[in-house]
Parts: sequence; C-alpha cells; structure tokens
Amino acid sequence: HRNNHQKYWELFYDHKGILQPTPTCEAWDQICNFQAKPDDLLIATYPKAGTTWTEEIVDLIQNKGDAEKSKRAPTHIRIPFIELIIPGMESGLEQANAMLSPRTLKTHLPIDLVPPSFLEKNCKIIYVARNPKDSMVSYYHFQRMNKGLPDPGTWEEYFESFLAGKVCWGSWYDHVKGWWEAKDQYRILYLFYEDMKKNPKHEIQKLAEFIGNNLDDEVLDKIVYHTSFDVMKLNPMANYSSVPTEFMDHSISPFMRKGTVGDWKNYFTVAQNERFDEDYKKKMANTSLTFHFQF
Ligand SMILES: *[C@@H]1O[C@H](CO)[C@@H](O)[C@H](O)[C@H]1NC(C)=O
Ligand SMILES: *[C@@H]1O[C@H](CO)[C@@H](O)[C@H](O)[C@H]1NC(C)=O
Repeated sequence: HRNNHQKYWELFYDHKGILQPTPTCEAWDQICNFQAKPDDLLIATYPKAGTTWTEEIVDLIQNKGDAEKSKRAPTHIRIPFIELIIPGMESGLEQANAMLSPRTLKTHLPIDLVPPSFLEKNCKIIYVARNPKDSMVSYYHFQRMNKGLPDPGTWEEYFESFLAGKVCWGSWYDHVKGWWEAKDQYRILYLFYEDMKKNPKHEIQKLAEFIGNNLDDEVLDKIVYHTSFDVMKLNPMANYSSVPTEFMDHSISPFMRKGTVGDWKNYFTVAQNERFDEDYKKKMANTSLTFHFQF
C-alpha cells in the first residue's frame, strides 16, 4: 500500500467540488488565469474516455496523416495537459506557454472549472464522452497503475467511489452533462467513444472538418490505421511507455489496456449492475444525453 510513504503530490483534496492532487489545488489561480489564444484547440474529456486516442487522431489530422511527424515526441509533450502539475517536472501550463501557435491542449476539467479564457476566446473544443460503465472499469485499472492518482481500493470500493463522484476530476455524470449543455453555446464538437469504435473513419472525418483540414480518402484511411488500438499500443510515442515506472507501472496494468466497448460486463456483478442502472436513471433524468453500453 502506498499510504505508508505517501508523497506530497500523492495527496488529494476536494477542490471546488472535485478531487484534485495537492499541487493542482495550490496552483489553481494560475490554472484558472491561463490565457488561451483564439486559435488554440482544446481536447476535453473525463478521464479514460479516449483522450490519448483523440489526441493521436488530431495530431495526425494536423500532420495530414504523416505518422513519422506524429512520432516527434510522446503525447504528453506534443499536447500539454493544462492542469497537470508534478513537482520537479515542467507543468502543463509552462509547456503550453512555451509552445508556438497553433496549440493543441488537453484538459480533464469539467466545463465550470475550465480556464474561462478558452470560452471567452471562443476556442474550438473537442469533447469526447464514453459510457460510464466502461469508463469506470478503465479508470479503476488506470488508478491501479498510475501512482499520481489515489489507490482505487477494491473493485467494490471503487464502484462506490465512482458513483459518488469521489474520484479525481469529480462526478462523471456532472462532467458529461455540463459539457453537453454547453455544446451549442460554444464551438464544441461533442463526440462519443462508442461511435469512434464503431465507425472510426466517419468520426475522424468529422474531426478533420471541425479542425478545418479537408483530407482525402487515402489520408483518412492512413489515420484510421495508425490510430487503431493494436497499432497505437505498440507506438512508443503514444503508449506512455516513456513515462518513468515511478509514475506509471504498465506491469500492473498497461496504459493501453483493451480499448473495447462492453468490457464492464466482465466486472459488474448483477447486483452492481442493477444498482448502477437505478442510480444512472436518476442522475441522467434531466438531460437529453444518451449512451451506448454495448454494440
Ligand atoms: C509501447 O511500445 C513499445 C514499442 O513498440 C513496446 O515495446 C511496448 O511493449 C509498448 N508498451 C506497452 C505498455 O504497451
Ligand atoms: C441536473 O440535476 C443536477 C442535480 O440535481 C444538477 O446539478 C444539474 O445542474 C442539472 N443539470 C441540468 C442540465 O439541468
């Protein structure tokens, strides 16, 4: 158990209604005051919704399908993660401020905590949502291998934490609903992980149009290939193998684990599934947003 020798950055606080690591809470004013530029492109997701996948697709679209160009650096260097602060390492803010425009940036923040400048400057924002059952299973395994996140406890304990929104970046329900309600008011392209799995070419084309790059069929096919699960899993610039084991231990659970729809069926008990569905109905009663839990 990590609790015996917990480091400063392994402590988590309820901050503005969501759980965040200490250094992020302490740098909150700086994060909140981040100055976006009108040509910034922001990729926003709840954790484990296909963030890295979308980042790779976007980078390949911007490089017209040239996979070698997209291998210039690991994902987290190519696309700064705005609110990530690990003492001793360059923060997402520092990376972003040092970057030339046009910049592509990443956040996991809910819409009401995203630096307001992104909305004031009317930046293009890509939001990707994934069904909560698969998100929960994926997040559980991610917390097991990512030492910068709280120990998830047992699956049973984690199930309760997720439902209660007591996980980093807060409630899945508030996150997906918040961005959904804002999508028509700002330049937000709202996508679904399940659609991207089912018809990657179609969704990649949508992304390319939104970004403003019209790509021919051949380039689209190339991007579909380079962003398929099996190819990305073996791409050292996309599979997070460059991050020290001190932060991510792929031997516990690889960063690219399964990338499927419906894996939750291997984890949810019948009782958990019933409890989940009942709770889901209540929390999602006031939204038009719907999800696919299987194909
Ligand atoms: C990442 O990619 C490298 C190079 O293909 C591969 O050797 C390694 O096993 C991959 N790591 C993970 C955790 O999948
Ligand atoms: C839905 O209800 C929740 C909790 O009652 C509330 O926090 C949220 O703002 C509501 N969302 C909408 C879109 O009405």
